[in-house]
Amino acid sequence: MNKNRKTVLITGANRGIGKAIAKKFINKGIQVIGTSTTQDGVKNIEDYLKGNGFGFILNLKNTDSITETIKEIYKKKYSIDILINNAGIKEDNLLVKMKNKEWNDVIKTNLSSIFYLVKSVIRPMIKKKQGRIITIGSVIAYTGNKGQVNYSASKSGLVGFHKSLALEVASKGITVNIVSPGLIKTDFTNTLSSIQNQKYISNIPMKRLGNPEEIADAVIFLSSKKASYITGHTLHINGGMYMI
Ligand SMILES: NC(=O)c1ccc[n+]([C@@H]2O[C@H](COP(=O)([O-])OP(=O)(O)OC[C@H]3O[C@@H](n4cnc5c(N)ncnc54)[C@H](OP(=O)(O)O)[C@@H]3O)[C@@H](O)[C@H]2O)c1
Repeated sequence: MNKNRKTVLITGANRGIGKAIAKKFINKGIQVIGTSTTQDGVKNIEDYLKGNGFGFILNLKNTDSITETIKEIYKKKYSIDILINNAGIKEDNLLVKMKNKEWNDVIKTNLSSIFYLVKSVIRPMIKKKQGRIITIGSVIAYTGNKGQVNYSASKSGLVGFHKSLALEVASKGITVNIVSPGLIKTDFTNTLSSIQNQKYISNIPMKRLGNPEEIADAVIFLSSKKASYITGHTLHINGGMYMI
């Protein structure tokens, strides 16, 4: 790990989309600081990073701990050039049965945490006059889904947040965008029954789930110089499932 090399912070880098993003950044020569909620997850991150970064524990449900944890990275003299807000959860239930905890957990992890993460990195980015902030949203922000009022609200909240932030920092050399996946093959969708799977696939014009790498490619593009004039945008990647 070199303190002068370009560095990306990725939440939820242990598996799924976050891991695919991290691997592509390493291939581009960008070192990775990746988070997991468990020590095993941190070990897994450090195993695949092979010295090109490090992992640390961060639980986004504890929004109060986020600022202090990120401060530790700056104290060690690492800069964060790119922030990838990837980690996210779902705790599904119909509204009539949804518990307060299911609502609060999802809103805290998927939406409120982004406020604290961005606040922790934005001043140094402004000082450097450059930065990239990319957040993984969801098609459910746009379509809604039965049993997901909490998840859908959290992901659509991100849209307004990112548009407003993009306006605030557009003149500071910082771009702010969302990558919005449809259904992607990860642990997140592993819990679907084969009947649910078939039902979803029948609504996807490409007749398949996406791969984490297909999301990661878009994130790499938005992080690159080639995307320097794109901000406040949501890039939909869903096999044609939803178009705007
Ligand atoms: N897969 C899809 O079909 C799909 C579709 C649309 C959007 N998305 C979004 O894509 C993002 C990544 O999803 P995925 O499919 O890669 O999911 P995943 O395989 O379930 O991975 C989720 C990641 O989030 C981390 N995480 C979970 N709870 C956390 C918490 N409280 N604090 C911090 N980190 C936490 C996990 O860390 P640990 O290692 O500690 O478990 C894990 O690395 C999410 O924002 C999700 O909403 C996914």
